[in-house]
Amino acid sequence: MDHDALRPSLALRRLVNGYQVTQAIHVAAVLGLADLLADGPRSSGDLAATTNTHPGTLYRLLRALASAGVFREEEDRHFALTDLGACLRVDAPEPVAGWATFVGESSHWQAWNALLHSVQTGENAFRHVHEIDSWTFRAHHPELSASFDRAMTDLSRQLSAAILAAYDFGRFGQIIDVGGGNGAFLGAVLAKHPMTHGVLFDQPHVVSGAGPVLAAAGVAARCEVVGGSFFDAVPAGGDAYILKAILHDWEDAPCVQILQTCRRAMADGAALLVVERDLGRPNQDPDAKFSDLNMLVGPMGQERTPDDYAALFAAAGFRFVTFTPSTVGTGVYEGVAA
Ligand SMILES: C[S@@+](CC[C@H](N)C(=O)[O-])C[C@H]1O[C@@H](n2cnc3c(N)ncnc32)[C@H](O)[C@@H]1O
Repeated sequence: MDHDALRPSLALRRLVNGYQVTQAIHVAAVLGLADLLADGPRSSGDLAATTNTHPGTLYRLLRALASAGVFREEEDRHFALTDLGACLRVDAPEPVAGWATFVGESSHWQAWNALLHSVQTGENAFRHVHEIDSWTFRAHHPELSASFDRAMTDLSRQLSAAILAAYDFGRFGQIIDVGGGNGAFLGAVLAKHPMTHGVLFDQPHVVSGAGPVLAAAGVAARCEVVGGSFFDAVPAGGDAYILKAILHDWEDAPCVQILQTCRRAMADGAALLVVERDLGRPNQDPDAKFSDLNMLVGPMGQERTPDDYAALFAAAGFRFVTFTPSTVGTGVYEGVAA
């Protein structure tokens, strides 16, 4: 056993240095190194020539990531994929490259650098740094918007199977996915339930990227795509309205506004399906607790408990029915238009 690994100071220093791992994986994702290793091990020199990078320095990057388990270093500076590294392939069943790319890019990274400002003031770090909210910022930077949408698509691909296993979306004929991004989650829902039709709703510059995602899921013919703002109006006529990873982006007051917009479009008895994490218990669930900080820093939102969601539902004219957890920490908060 490595006794050094148990020393609190070393354990803490490794946590402190997590930012180094974040940027190293970000660079590997941006360079597409995992895709270049898909057919087997390659030398760092060969990878450097293919990616037009500095050979000695790329070797140092690969060596560091191999020490963290992302790649495996073999003879003569050759590197292979590990199970972790394989998740950086674009064709991974549960891809992480989009998330790694987004998390390490400068506008998000700089916002995290203002976490202290958020903690001191309660204000949003992204707006403090960039003088504009994250949604408007990305609307003005198409390449960052596409990077964010790809990150969301990656996350949906990681979570969809578990959520669909936990909750039966097949009992609804018409499902509206409000803020559905590029359609990865709705695509998975419709693919699993062939009798179901869908409407994908999001900002116009976001749904413009949905075509290939819905086509890849084989559901384009059963899915209408509508652009707009969920602060104005959402499509009417759905049996169920999904809001996945939407409310955690916002403080309570805008959440109630979004839910009220949905309520106006919904017939009595229609289902509200809020797909979000459960913040979890004290001292547990670091994914949820740090996602909560990520919401503070980026969009100015927060993660919540089932009681929190029940209160939001009541404030917007919904009766809270139940929370269905899944094996991945994200579950379905179900309400009914009362
Ligand atoms: C965290 S992402 C979640 C996307 C998708 N539901 C998912 O789970 O992958 C939040 C989404 O809300 C959308 N959004 C933000 N403001 C919006 C608005 N005013 N009207 C409609 N959609 C909006 C964003 O474009 C983004 O796709």
